[in-house]
Amino acid sequence: MRRSLTGIKPSGQIHVGNYLGSVRPALELQRSFDAFSFIADYHALTQVEDAAVLRDRTHEVAATFLALGLDPERNVLYRQSAVPEVHELAWVLSCVIPVGMLDRGHAVKAARDGGREINAGTLFYPVLMAADILLYDANVVPVGKDQKQHVEMARDMAIKVNHRAEGTLVVPEVVIQEDVATVPGLDGRKMSKSYDNVIPLWAAPKELRKLVMRIKTDSRGVEDVKDPDTCPVFQLYRAFAEPDQVADLRARYLAPGLGYGHAKQALFEAMEATLAAPRERYTFWREHPADLEDVLSTGAARARAIATPTLHRVRRAFGLEAWTATLG
Ligand code: ADP
Ligand code: TRP
Repeated sequence: MRRSLTGIKPSGQIHVGNYLGSVRPALELQRSFDAFSFIADYHALTQVEDAAVLRDRTHEVAATFLALGLDPERNVLYRQSAVPEVHELAWVLSCVIPVGMLDRGHAVKAARDGGREINAGTLFYPVLMAADILLYDANVVPVGKDQKQHVEMARDMAIKVNHRAEGTLVVPEVVIQEDVATVPGLDGRKMSKSYDNVIPLWAAPKELRKLVMRIKTDSRGVEDVKDPDTCPVFQLYRAFAEPDQVADLRARYLAPGLGYGHAKQALFEAMEATLAAPRERYTFWREHPADLEDVLSTGAARARAIATPTLHRVRRAFGLEAWTATLG
């Protein structure tokens, strides 16, 4: 069975953009793929300085996956840092890619644009991400559009390694769900922690409604015809509502008589219909951290079982000490 893999950084509160662009597609793939999902805690170190915060956010991500239907039997859930061998692969990969390529990386650019200091970890970010993917022989990687470049870099690195020794690494493909490629935030720009325009996925109903009502719309009034395709309210609605409801709201946008307040109320209700039950499961998992840790450590053992033979092939391809003896 082909393998899918996705990682989420525990660097901030999970928002609706993360859910639609990354968590939901990853969960859909668990039906037809051997799915791996992990919490990219090493990656979060480029942004999170406080250990307690990192631990808490790690549990938030794990509980989110489980609340939304991750089945630990079919979808291996683990902490990136539970398999530190990823750094060994990252080192080897860093020796096959030029610095210039890293310097054009999306994370570096974002840090530069945000005026943040660029630590070496940020520069190295795509190499570690490539190691995350290649260590587990992933065939497909579902991500939001902004991560496409990183997955393409991972492909490049895998191809370079395979030039040295055919068949060492699996060359992954990126999967982007076009309809949710870029989920808009409250101000209409891409929803992102960096823009402070997010709708937290687990906001309580009252807070959720308040945020939905704040989504920026144009100044068209009730009697004006509206453009659903450029309206962030409609774009979000499309991702949550059933197809017939979406068709219905589209028709109402294209005719007089719909106020944005009504569209927002419809969006809020569609979000509640999707999120109310998972929100309760989320609360349950957060109140049972020992159970969460159990799921994570079972996942880590299964992840390591895939990682070890991959590293063995890499070691052989590069002439490093081969540890056949420890493979069992
Ligand atoms: P942020 O931009 O808020 O820092 P991350 O970079 O941590 O979010 O993204 C985590 C995952 O969620 C990635 O796979 C990313 O592509 C996806 N994602 C984040 N924001 C969006 C968005 N607005 N639309 C679609 N996918 C998104
Ligand atoms: N860089 C990704 C993000 O910011 C998180 C990530 C780390 C990841 N390693 C990965 C995603 C491997 C997919 C596969 O969202």
